[in-house]
Amino acid sequence: MKMAVMILAAGRSTRFRSTLPKVLHPLGGRTLLAHVVATVAALKPVGTVVVCAPDHRTSVRTACAEFLKVRWAMQRQARGTADAVKSGLAQIPVGATHVVILAGDVPLITVATLRTFVKFAQAAPCGAVLTMRQADPAGYGRVICNSAREVARIVEARDAQGGERLVQEVNTGVWCVPVRWLKTALRAIRPTNAQGEYYLTDIVLTAMQHGTPIRALLAPDATEFDGVNTRADLAHVAATWRRRQIARWMERGVTFEQPDSCSVDADVTIGQDTTIATNVTLRGATAIGANCRIDVGCVLTDATLADGVHLKPYSVLESSVVGADCVIGPFARLRPGTRLAADVHIGNFVETKQAVLARGVKANHLTYLGDVTIGESTNVGCGTITCNYDGVHKHPTTIGKRVFVGSDTAFVAPVKIGDDATIAAGSVITDDVPAKSLAIARGRQVVKRGWKRK
Ligand code: UD1
Ligand code: MG
Repeated sequence: MKMAVMILAAGRSTRFRSTLPKVLHPLGGRTLLAHVVATVAALKPVGTVVVCAPDHRTSVRTACAEFLKVRWAMQRQARGTADAVKSGLAQIPVGATHVVILAGDVPLITVATLRTFVKFAQAAPCGAVLTMRQADPAGYGRVICNSAREVARIVEARDAQGGERLVQEVNTGVWCVPVRWLKTALRAIRPTNAQGEYYLTDIVLTAMQHGTPIRALLAPDATEFDGVNTRADLAHVAATWRRRQIARWMERGVTFEQPDSCSVDADVTIGQDTTIATNVTLRGATAIGANCRIDVGCVLTDATLADGVHLKPYSVLESSVVGADCVIGPFARLRPGTRLAADVHIGNFVETKQAVLARGVKANHLTYLGDVTIGESTNVGCGTITCNYDGVHKHPTTIGKRVFVGSDTAFVAPVKIGDDATIAAGSVITDDVPAKSLAIARGRQVVKRGWKRK
């Protein structure tokens, strides 16, 4: 069997009320569509076709690693699921014998479920449909099977009559059918139903007429097919997804003190014996080492942490690299281009940007370090500021090893400070300071004894 995948995403999604196509809304740092594309990729299909609407054409194709290999098809008008599949047929690679069809707005479906289903479908001459049980079948298509689990018909909610309404086995919208047979079956479909749409579900009738019925496989966990039609659905699906994601990291030896309060994006990695406290958000390609502690309220975006790092509460890191055993925060902000070697201490209300700090550097209080390079074991005093911007250009500050920077120092960049230099507190440093020297750059204190106020 050579299998292709077709993802339907050309529906009108009116209930979502968005200018952005529904399937491009994010869930755990990926779009809904990218979740489905990533899941089906694990089945190693010969091709993945996404059927989208004409007005969504450019935005749905937005650059995204998951989408690089996708083949795009367009459905001119949302005339139903069968019409959507018809629009995608031309993009199915020649040589594909089967096609797995699923919806772009059902992001929780798992690879394991799909694998079992595809195996099952292979054994049936006209393929299979995946079903689920819903205590309240609501808007789903009711699946009517005979005792041999062959599908006699699927009745859409709006067309269901009397007892049909009560049928709890419903269509998940996931199919696996032979390509050649599908092409013929689609030709027979007519929009004679309550919605005036071309229903993909009607292929079961053709299959039955040919004496080769489509078979139904009941999926054990219906939550995998929770779809996103409204913003409330998105919040619901996101909560399930986050819980699942965090459970995976707990299984791998990560402690979450309050799992339900945290959010971990799809591409994040976390090392063993790391502890994540309350209200922590880990975004993008954040990679955390082993034995770290990420304290309350931290937000990390594309950050890389080596082992043993301690992020104290409410620290915010973006595109920064933090070496082993660093201690950061509370209330620290590491902005893009921050690179800290091992054992660096960054304290409260310290902001760094394009800052390369060597091993053992300490900047513990109220400091701005921008466009700066600092050598080993240098101590940056409280209230130090790199004046890196002259209103037009950014300029670098280079500080050597074992420098002692007194409190309330301003470095007016560009400026260089040699190794073992000492900067007196309150200095405004405008000129380079050679190694092993003391620089004092402030007005001398004047004391007028016995001075009387006017
Ligand atoms: C469909 C099924 C129903 C099933 C349910 C599961 C049919 C006729 N009905 O109903 O049996 O229980 O899914 O969620 O198949 N789409 C297009 N073009 C269209 C119409 C839809 O691309 O013209 C896409 C949508 O974007 C969506 C998927 O197909 O991703 C399902 O469409 P939707 O309108 O939600 O179908 P339902 O009425 O929910
Ligand atoms: Mg739907």
